[in-house]
Amino acid sequence: MNMLQTAKEIRTAQSVPSALERFGDIDMPDLEYTPAVARETEHLYARVKDHIPAIEWPVFAPYVHAINRLKKERGAVILAHNYQTPEIFHCVSDIVGDSLQLAREAGTVDAEIIVQCGVHFMAETSKLLNPEKTVLIPDMKAGCSLSESITGADVRRLKVANPGVPVVTYVNTSADVKAETDICCTSSNALAIVESLEEDTVLCIPDEYLAMNIAKQTSKKILTWKGHCEVHERFTADELLAYKEADPNIQIIGHPECHPDVIEVCDFSGSTSGMINYVKEERPQKVLLVTECSMASNVEAETPGVEFVKPCNLCPHMKRITLPKILDSLVFMKEEVTIDPRIADRARLAVERMVNLGK
Ligand code: 13P
Ligand code: SF4
Repeated sequence: MNMLQTAKEIRTAQSVPSALERFGDIDMPDLEYTPAVARETEHLYARVKDHIPAIEWPVFAPYVHAINRLKKERGAVILAHNYQTPEIFHCVSDIVGDSLQLAREAGTVDAEIIVQCGVHFMAETSKLLNPEKTVLIPDMKAGCSLSESITGADVRRLKVANPGVPVVTYVNTSADVKAETDICCTSSNALAIVESLEEDTVLCIPDEYLAMNIAKQTSKKILTWKGHCEVHERFTADELLAYKEADPNIQIIGHPECHPDVIEVCDFSGSTSGMINYVKEERPQKVLLVTECSMASNVEAETPGVEFVKPCNLCPHMKRITLPKILDSLVFMKEEVTIDPRIADRARLAVERMVNLGK
């Protein structure tokens, strides 16, 4: 036991019932591909038919059917990031989006239970904005290389070394790190957040490449950290130039977590939703999305006529979320996301400042 805990904290910790105790479990549904399941999921299969062969749908459909039924029974809402696989993105999610959209939506949902299909920092952000609600993540091990690159103690040391310099922290961080932060940002608002600050020097952490990409667009001095996204750091400018050489008409669209040399050869750069909107609005004949590869499949289903070139870099953390695990979440109310109350209030402030800035 942590000897520094107060008696009140110990009492509170002991008396908070788990999500399973609060809501109870429900029977695991039959997972048979019956004619009724086939009929009731037919319209959903139409959205993913280019990605899931017809012969495989009988394996997916019972899960899709059960999740959609249990979601209603539980009064739960499923929030899914743009990197989730097509059967999650198109068949069971209620709200999809980039990190900023999911954070904003999390703050406004009525449902008592949020099932976060994404990685842990996203679920933690939802919990910060909804302390009274139950936030579940289907796999607690769904992490993020950026989030794991830095700790709260690292930020405290950076603040001592750079007194008076405001700290902008990418939302891809733990609550512990957010608690040491002045304001959070995502890839869609990072420049606006940096520009909103009065100071001429800004700590923009932990994504080194995002910070370098912002530094190219602002007159402020940007200090950073050596964190990288293990998916985006794999793309190289040479690889993209080879695609351009093979077909000069190809549009290359990159996520700002890529190295600036990669962004330099892109026709457009933006958050995951920024990239999706670009494809939907511009309708390029042929496009390459320089990002996690499930996203191309998700947007492809909504943009007929656009040809997608797909170098496939998968995020192993995002891919931990599967239909069977989502079903387990709804049946057994797991895994529940909790945040140490001693850091939650300060971390919430940093996220709320970001969310409110865009309003
Ligand atoms: P977005 O905020 O652009 O959705 O990015 C989140 C992420 O994890 C990208 O790797
Ligand atoms: Fe983290 Fe990169 Fe995966 Fe996004 S794609 S969750 S930044 S490791």
